[in-house]
Amino acid sequence: MTRAKVASIPEGVIDRVLKHDGRAPRYTSYPTAVQFSTDVGPAEYCDWLVALPQDKAVSLYVHVPFCTRLCWYCGCNTRVVNRPEPIGEYVRYLLREVELVARKLDGRRPASGLHLGGGTPNTLTVEELQAVFGALGREFAFTDDMEIAAELDPASLTKSWVDAAGALGLNRASLGVQTLDPKVQAAVNRNETFEQIDECVAALRSIRVRSLNLDLMYGLPHQTTQSVLDTIDAILAFRPERLALFGYAHVPWMKSHQKLIAESALPGPAERLEQALMAEEKLIGEGYVSIGLDHFALPHDELARAKADHRLRRNFQGYTTDSAGTLIGFGASAIGALPGGYVQNHTQELPWRQAIDRGEAPIARGVAISEDDRFRAEIIERLMCDFAVDLEAVCGRHQTRSPAELSGAIEKLQPFLDDRLVGIDGSYIQVLPAGRPLVRSISACFDTYFQPEALRHSRAV
Ligand SMILES: C[S@@+](CC[C@H](N)C(=O)[O-])C[C@H]1O[C@@H](n2cnc3c(N)ncnc32)[C@H](O)[C@@H]1O
Ligand code: SF4
Repeated sequence: MTRAKVASIPEGVIDRVLKHDGRAPRYTSYPTAVQFSTDVGPAEYCDWLVALPQDKAVSLYVHVPFCTRLCWYCGCNTRVVNRPEPIGEYVRYLLREVELVARKLDGRRPASGLHLGGGTPNTLTVEELQAVFGALGREFAFTDDMEIAAELDPASLTKSWVDAAGALGLNRASLGVQTLDPKVQAAVNRNETFEQIDECVAALRSIRVRSLNLDLMYGLPHQTTQSVLDTIDAILAFRPERLALFGYAHVPWMKSHQKLIAESALPGPAERLEQALMAEEKLIGEGYVSIGLDHFALPHDELARAKADHRLRRNFQGYTTDSAGTLIGFGASAIGALPGGYVQNHTQELPWRQAIDRGEAPIARGVAISEDDRFRAEIIERLMCDFAVDLEAVCGRHQTRSPAELSGAIEKLQPFLDDRLVGIDGSYIQVLPAGRPLVRSISACFDTYFQPEALRHSRAV
């Protein structure tokens, strides 16, 4: 592989950023999942479903919590299954859940988006995939321009699966790559060759997915800046429309299999930051637009266009162009977002199935959104998406709120201001380029629930 040419990071930036490194939520919602409680259950969810406007399109999310292998870094809700029976049983319940939830809705709603996430959705057989699409298509009216996306694992993806998904309308795909460095792969139990990725990309291009995303990671054991850049060099051959570059979130107290990763082999905060910054610089040099915290897109891709028009959104799948105000989640652990609040299904399959057997929406927890939450959610979403927010403008859209209510948040921003990581001009707050890796911690200044020392979150850098 060729050695990438990258300019160095300006003097002092790494120290200035690391001074403020701490734990912070990823803000895929506000309030975040930490605030979910059993105060919200099936009854509240049903009220919120009934209250949905008749003609507004919704987005759908289906969680497939199965994989054919266990990557030791994995933070997703999944388990390894190499027999067909548990997956078949899961799909039978999934179909019942779709019917059950749809019955609570008054009429067949239009659906403008469908995201299959996991885990690994391509652990479903073609027949199971068709059955899931069949059930969703019966209960929701798929719009003509519907965006249909799936997260796919190259290790188990086949051409026949891709062809079947293409026939069902798959038009966006995300492939996990993470790293092509054999030493790093061995340290996380995920072996993969460039040729395997190449075959998957060719299969996906043959069904004309309009946007292909590849997931990469930094901060993995034994990973170096050069190793991250070499992986980028290799996968640039595919010219994916989108790239995600996730910093490894090491949370072994929540994901016990991460204890299999030798902590002594993990890059330190300064190395992690260097990996992220050098990778960003390289991708920008290759013509990609940097999107928020961890995404990149070619300028013609819808994600880059949404960024340019300030239409970028953040939801449970990360950065998105999805403008539907409602996300209905299906499957164990799936999260839903409705105008009334957020809900999460039972994470474990058994209680999820038991609820469906009782004819109940399988909601375990959630949170109702207050007027103040909505106001702060908009500020945090703009910071996470645009690295800037005009507080006066947000107040204008939330008539009952005033900038004076935010004096506490502005005070918390002071240390970031002092280190030239944030700039304030009247009511306009901007995360300066050096402060971007800290956008989660900067956003946390506006989060009234945030407890800085809560161990639940991963480190912000
Ligand atoms: C559902 S998986 C992707 C699809 C498929 N299962 C695969 O691995 O190829 C979602 C993505 O989350 C990212 N991810 C998983 N665990 C992570 C962690 N602990 N920290 C940061 N990113 C993580 C990986 O980049 C992974 O590709
Ligand atoms: S990274 Fe993907 S394949 Fe690996 S365990 Fe997690 S969800 Fe499964």
